[in-house]
Amino acid sequence: MPHSASRCETASTRPVPNRLATSRAPGKIILTGEHFVVLGAPAVAMAVNLYSHATVRPARPGRIEVEAGIPLQAIGPVNQNQNQNGRKLLEPLRLAARETLDYIGDKGSGISLDVDCEIPVGAGLGSSASTTVAIITAVAKARRAKLVRKEIFRIAFGPESFLHGSPSGVDHATSIYGGIISFTKPEGIKQLKLKQAPRILVCDTGIHRSTKKLVEAVVRKSREQRQAYSAHVDDVRDISENAIRALRKGDLGELGSLMDANHELLVKIGVSHPLLDKLVRVARVAGALGAKLTGAGGGGCIIALCKTGNDEVSIARALKKHGGLPYRVSMDREGTRIV
Ligand code: PMV
Repeated sequence: MPHSASRCETASTRPVPNRLATSRAPGKIILTGEHFVVLGAPAVAMAVNLYSHATVRPARPGRIEVEAGIPLQAIGPVNQNQNQNGRKLLEPLRLAARETLDYIGDKGSGISLDVDCEIPVGAGLGSSASTTVAIITAVAKARRAKLVRKEIFRIAFGPESFLHGSPSGVDHATSIYGGIISFTKPEGIKQLKLKQAPRILVCDTGIHRSTKKLVEAVVRKSREQRQAYSAHVDDVRDISENAIRALRKGDLGELGSLMDANHELLVKIGVSHPLLDKLVRVARVAGALGAKLTGAGGGGCIIALCKTGNDEVSIARALKKHGGLPYRVSMDREGTRIV
């Protein structure tokens, strides 16, 4: 059976009084367009019900303290609060709080942050974007500042760039807006209003990797092979535009074929992995209407488009038998919010 979304343990259980604000922000899957979105093609992404939560409490003036529950099994045996790896993980969280305070013109406040992330790290599900967005939302609320979504989007580029180099923005845009969006760099965000969300099964290979390195390699290759990549970007533009039409019409067969075509292009540019390809094949044979890797690739997750709930169960069973870890997810409609 698929895994249901579940909270993972928080690093800190210390009792800190005076909670000022708590927020949550969803993770995401990319239906079409990853990597090529960095090069200018549109992507289509859906927010999913796996969340980061951020709680803000007062601290001594000028201080930003961060405690985080991050799924450490995904990145190896590290103690996040004591070693270098751990500090590196916490830096974007601190930066999200710092940049929010700077943006709202609050130089003096002290903030204690508790961040809890139930999204696997380095799996293509937007864990870092969701923690960043949750922190910005909670810090703004704690300081009684009202930010519109475009402002949260702009602030999030700071911490996201610290971690990912030059992200397109699709991950944090999806976490902010929720639902299904089409996204084109730099700020082209459109929300798709659908009667019904597609039924998507996520399956993790358990292999976790750095988005930054994968994106840098694709950008480098796109400079070396300009003509080929410009043709790929055109192909992905068509795939994403047709996917939007298919979603609006509820044509799941067409959406599935477009996801398959998108996966083949991602294989061609070298960001897939043998286990991703195997799970994609298994999902298709088990009845998925389409399947592809999602996010940066090199490991991480695949997504499979399922026709019915029964199909979802049998596809999940097949994926598990072949070494994958299936997650049952549904669409998050709200995006980031105070809880
Ligand atoms: O960080 P991931 O694995 O969720 O991937 C993000 C999507 C990319 O297109 C690969 C990068 C980007 O910034 O758009």
